Amino acid sequence: MKQIENVYKSFLQDCHEKNLRRKLIAIEPEKAGKIKVGGQTYLNFASNDYLGLKHHPKLLEQSRKYGEKYGAGAGASRLVTGNTPLFGEIEQKIASLKGKQAALVLASGYQANGTVLQALFDKTILKSSPTIVADKLNHASMHFGCAAAGIRQKRYRHLDADHAENLLSEAPADTPAFLLTETVFSMDGDIAPMKQLINIASKNQATLIADDAHGFGILGKEGRGLAEEADIIIGTFSKALGSFGAYVAASQTVIDYLIQRCGGLIYSTGLPPTTLGSINAAIDLLPELEAERKQVQRNAAFFRNEMNNIGWDTGKSETQIVPLIIGPAKEAMELSEYLKSENIWVTAIRPPTVPEGTARLRFTFTASQSEADIEYLVKLLKQYKKKRGPQS
Ligand SMILES: Cc1ncc(COP(=O)(O)O)c(C=O)c1O
Repeated sequence: MKQIENVYKSFLQDCHEKNLRRKLIAIEPEKAGKIKVGGQTYLNFASNDYLGLKHHPKLLEQSRKYGEKYGAGAGASRLVTGNTPLFGEIEQKIASLKGKQAALVLASGYQANGTVLQALFDKTILKSSPTIVADKLNHASMHFGCAAAGIRQKRYRHLDADHAENLLSEAPADTPAFLLTETVFSMDGDIAPMKQLINIASKNQATLIADDAHGFGILGKEGRGLAEEADIIIGTFSKALGSFGAYVAASQTVIDYLIQRCGGLIYSTGLPPTTLGSINAAIDLLPELEAERKQVQRNAAFFRNEMNNIGWDTGKSETQIVPLIIGPAKEAMELSEYLKSENIWVTAIRPPTVPEGTARLRFTFTASQSEADIEYLVKLLKQYKKKRGPQS
């Protein structure tokens, strides 16, 4: 045990020296759009609560109502005695919003990707090892699902549909093939070429699986997301929908199969009724939130423009997620500390979450921020840039 402690200690020291050590920071209650840490209030540019729903009275009211009716927890896995009626109601709404035959609610986006992909790629069921062609920058949870299935992915250059097609065309004819992508990439805010991916998947008899975690609620008609034409859609209720939990939407056969084989459903307690209440309320609110969606996109576009005009690199962002790509982790940390000293909260994202040499500040835009908040942020970044000179 002692020896093992030393191994972990040396790893931690190494993280510290490379400016890569992660820390948990306690958050105090604050209004939407703000964050309070250590008694100090900051403007929050690091939240995925894009529509400001986490404090919405309807989410809180339904959460309380279902908690009082069914209790604080599900009490068991859904296949045992935890399948409260709200699961079915939410699943029907999700299936209909996504244009699929059926849907399944799961515990979190991470768990959904981990366990749904593991079940879908099961070699014992497929009777061969499937070909998995995946965007290089897919979320860690998608890699986790592939690893759990014991599959080595073929990874294509980020957003490069031609490269994806080349890799797919090399797949042995007698094995199943899957194409995996996010719709909106979580660390870059850019959008997958969905139309092209749909075409090449269908041309190559591959199944397209899209993770719409950052599209759902915020993009597409009435916030329905961007994955409609994918064969299997995975997404979460923890970002624009303001609470927690995840779903997979697909054909009835795929959903029935997952009920038999998806470990995250079978071996884990169902979501608490309180959470299901918030999810249900958020889904019902989505069509009414057009003004919020427009505001989010307007603010993000203004910020991107201003940053590009002074020579900051925002990658290919076209959504509410806008990275300022800095490069060295140390410099990203310095900029985030500077902004904190001016009451702006934004997270420095460093390797291994993003590729080496692309450490960045990941700004997110939400309906809870005012135009004045964005202008203040832009002013600070312009001042910083002027003081520090051109980006290296
Ligand atoms: C693309 C993507 N998929 C899945 C997840 C995981 O979702 P959750 O936070 O609900 O576990 C995230 C969250 O960071 C994500 O960005």
